Amino acid sequence: MIAPAFSPRRVEELRPRIEANVVEILDAMEAAGPPTDFVDSFALPVPSMVICELLGVPYEDRAEFNERSVVRFDGTKDAATRAAAVEASLEYMARLVVRQRADPGEGILGMLVREHGSEIGNRELAGIGDLLLLGGHETTVNMLALGTLLLLGNPDKTEALRSEENVDAIVEELLRYLSVVQTGVPRVARTDVTLAGQQIRRGERLLCSLPSANRDMALTADGDSFDPWRKAGAHLAFGHGIHYCVGAPLARTEMRIAFPALFQRFPALRLEVPFTEVPFRLSSAIYGVDQLPVAW
Ligand code: HEM
Repeated sequence: MIAPAFSPRRVEELRPRIEANVVEILDAMEAAGPPTDFVDSFALPVPSMVICELLGVPYEDRAEFNERSVVRFDGTKDAATRAAAVEASLEYMARLVVRQRADPGEGILGMLVREHGSEIGNRELAGIGDLLLLGGHETTVNMLALGTLLLLGNPDKTEALRSEENVDAIVEELLRYLSVVQTGVPRVARTDVTLAGQQIRRGERLLCSLPSANRDMALTADGDSFDPWRKAGAHLAFGHGIHYCVGAPLARTEMRIAFPALFQRFPALRLEVPFTEVPFRLSSAIYGVDQLPVAW
């Protein structure tokens, strides 16, 4: 139902719009001047602007929906607090769906209402919209923020980003090395099964650690180092199999545009605080930083 809207061809058509968004966000960052919180001024706006336009969600709501997304993934919060954030997100999306039913827009929410509105109720439509909004910003925000932090410590790689032919390899290695989605959604064994010599009983829950998989010797040697030119098999940062990330082409395109544009605009970008003071997330299903103070 939604996969065609995120196909590589459709995403390629979005490229000029994404490039224009990135320029607009860089202009605003430059105009506001240093120092700045990079999450607030670049990493959050880039994917939020894109996914808001694509879905038909008001961009000015980004601080509000992002705050809820952070709580949903935060393992330091109790279950009731996280469940309340999920419920508030679904209610927010349900209100947008009701508005779209009255006046379907050009975005994916409008398309879903027009093409599937008679078979799907508001709650289910809100669920689809919520998953896309959540997946569409929270993951890429942290890839952009952590990726920038990593690149700041690797000036030879930021230099390499200047050549277009290097960009894909650098983005793929950032995806592998950072593996911001720590585990996929838990799976439940439907029958007794033995996997890699490990017996799993029917009903048991399984969590796959994507960072571990992406550093496994079976995938590549010396996986703890950041090396875009390594020889490696396909990484698992977007998952694997039937639930492989539907937004992978979009996320890749956003990063392939955003990283080179950022370092071209701010070649002297630097961290404004000592590395040890960067507020890394302590326990979240999506790894990242809460803030990233930078200057140039
Ligand atoms: C760098 C950014 C991203 C990363 C690292 C990432 C990672 C992942 C991973 C690992 C999964 C599989 C989860 C599992 O198997 O349990 C997944 C699924 C998914 N992602 Fe992404 N994602 C990213 C960007 C996006 C974007 C931009 C969107 C939205 C447009 C999106 C929407 C989704 C959806 C809807 C699913 C569920 C697919 C299904 O269950 O069939 N993701 N993502």
